[in-house]
Amino acid sequence: RVEINLGKRGAKIPSSLYGVFFEEISGSGDGGLYAEMVRNRGFEDGVLPTGCTLDADGFAAAPHKHCYSNDSINRFRVPWSPDRFMTGWRTQYADGSQAASTITDEFPLNSATPHSLRLDLKSAYREVSAVNTGYWGMAVEAGKNYNLEFYVRAEETPGCRVAIITSSGRTVAQKEIKLTADGQWHRYTATFTPSVTGDDCSLNLIFPPKGQIWLDYVSLFPQDTFKGRPNGLRKDVATAIEQMHPAFIRWPGGCIVEGLTLENRVKWKETIGDPVKRPGEYNLWGYRSTYGFGYHEFLQYCEDIHSDAMFVCNAGMACLFRNGDYVQGDELEPLIQEALDAIEYAIGDAKTTKWGAERAKNGHPEPFPLKYIEVGNENVFSRYAENYNRFHKAIKAKYPQLTVLTALMFSKDVKSLDKVEVIDPHYYETADWFYNNADVYDKLPRNLPYKIYIGEYAAVGRSNLYSSLAEAAFLTGVERNADKVQLVSYAPLLQNAHFGRGHLIVFDNKQTYGRSNYHIVKLFAENRPDVNVQTRITGEQTAVPYSPKGFIGLGTVNTAAEFRDLKVVSDGRTVYATDWSDFAEKWKPLRGEWKVENGVLKQPVAAHEALLRLNDLNVGDCTITLKAR
Ligand code: AHR
Repeated sequence: RVEINLGKRGAKIPSSLYGVFFEEISGSGDGGLYAEMVRNRGFEDGVLPTGCTLDADGFAAAPHKHCYSNDSINRFRVPWSPDRFMTGWRTQYADGSQAASTITDEFPLNSATPHSLRLDLKSAYREVSAVNTGYWGMAVEAGKNYNLEFYVRAEETPGCRVAIITSSGRTVAQKEIKLTADGQWHRYTATFTPSVTGDDCSLNLIFPPKGQIWLDYVSLFPQDTFKGRPNGLRKDVATAIEQMHPAFIRWPGGCIVEGLTLENRVKWKETIGDPVKRPGEYNLWGYRSTYGFGYHEFLQYCEDIHSDAMFVCNAGMACLFRNGDYVQGDELEPLIQEALDAIEYAIGDAKTTKWGAERAKNGHPEPFPLKYIEVGNENVFSRYAENYNRFHKAIKAKYPQLTVLTALMFSKDVKSLDKVEVIDPHYYETADWFYNNADVYDKLPRNLPYKIYIGEYAAVGRSNLYSSLAEAAFLTGVERNADKVQLVSYAPLLQNAHFGRGHLIVFDNKQTYGRSNYHIVKLFAENRPDVNVQTRITGEQTAVPYSPKGFIGLGTVNTAAEFRDLKVVSDGRTVYATDWSDFAEKWKPLRGEWKVENGVLKQPVAAHEALLRLNDLNVGDCTITLKAR
């Protein structure tokens, strides 16, 4: 039984509360949010991470600098192999047998994409195809347009045929392209409109047995990107994030901000401008990304979905668990300048500032909605405070309107920060931990000297409805303490199904779905209350009522191993009763096994279920009863 006292109000819930955390991890950007269909378009996937060398076991390894423990020593290397130069590609004859090819840097197209694929066609005596299979197959839709771009340096080869072909060998679109065989690089473009829909297609550049060619930067994009932007985002993935109504988006991460080595960090200036001139980087998650979804695209996406932007800069520290490299004192200045330039790029005046003008040159004269800067990520390193203090001072001096966050969590080092605005604790804990710690913020005093941004949280272990509900229970505690916790984002956000199915949103080359915890976050963001109201709960169940705009909302998390009916009675009148058919409908996409037979919900296992939010009660006091079915 819950008694609600509208006269007694608790914490207000800021509109900033629910955001998202983007990081290039598990194929989230290339082959995911970023709509490029060609994998390894520049033949650069085999370039080692900057600052790393090959170790005796064939891994890309960061030189060991300031590791704390033996444990760290085993963790500063990532899988690598020279075959990665051909990731996504094969070269073949018409009968499918392998044709010879060479990865070479003899005629670099530019310094960002120095390698290319060389085909010695004359000595092949028959047609040779360079085939790209995209990110585990390319999915094309009949009647939609796809834009191709590629560069060739040809000697004698007069032309080529480009075709989109299904895995069963059916050509669904093709074009003849004339080449200029003058020994110079030339850019070629074409638009394809497939006649048939195919999930498992490849892009084939087919050359006659004449001369020699060097092929580089082969790109294929759907014309129909999110908001129709060039070099844009995949509509389904971008829409899934948009539907979470994020108040803010964090970019570029994550550990990726820190890098395997300092040189391996995300350098935002290398992620803007013409994509063919972006070098990309082999990241600490073990693969190379193009940064086609770069700083500008991130800011544009924020604007497009009405989110504030949160940029995370490197705090002069590489990832502690990789090589722990750091700089301090005056050596930090270039990195501070890098952060200031990033801010100027986002919000600086287009006419009077260098980086504001660069933004305008890239098609956006107006400022972007940058609101937050975080200094570093997870830099649980006692030297961090000194670095943060320098960054904070420099950023605030020039941009007092921005909120500057520290990467410190609940740490004694917070005391060493000259000025602390917002701390960033991360929680990767078990589902039981989340369930049992829904009150963790109730225990903190109300007069904290800082606000809290829960930058990353996720129940680890097996992801299921129970872990999602445990996260939901945790979020009820966040809302209840929203005077302390001002921002929260789940991590990681996106995952290509070929990397696993554990993150919030999972996708393959043609479809996207949110796991149950995606729907929890969406539900909370869609029903974000304005203010908490006092409740008194008797009996076993817990509830968190609140009052958005004159309506009563009730969130409950039922973790009992049985269904509960929920009934809301106001003035003796039942104003809400659980509608199981509707409930099952709502949750059907999440778990195949939910089904309703003759109006009764059938569930194969006694699991934990039911987050119900009621926001349609225009009542004063009401009584809520939860009883076993
Ligand atoms: O979310 C994955 C990683 O977990 C993030 O990059 C890092 O900040 C955290 O440790």
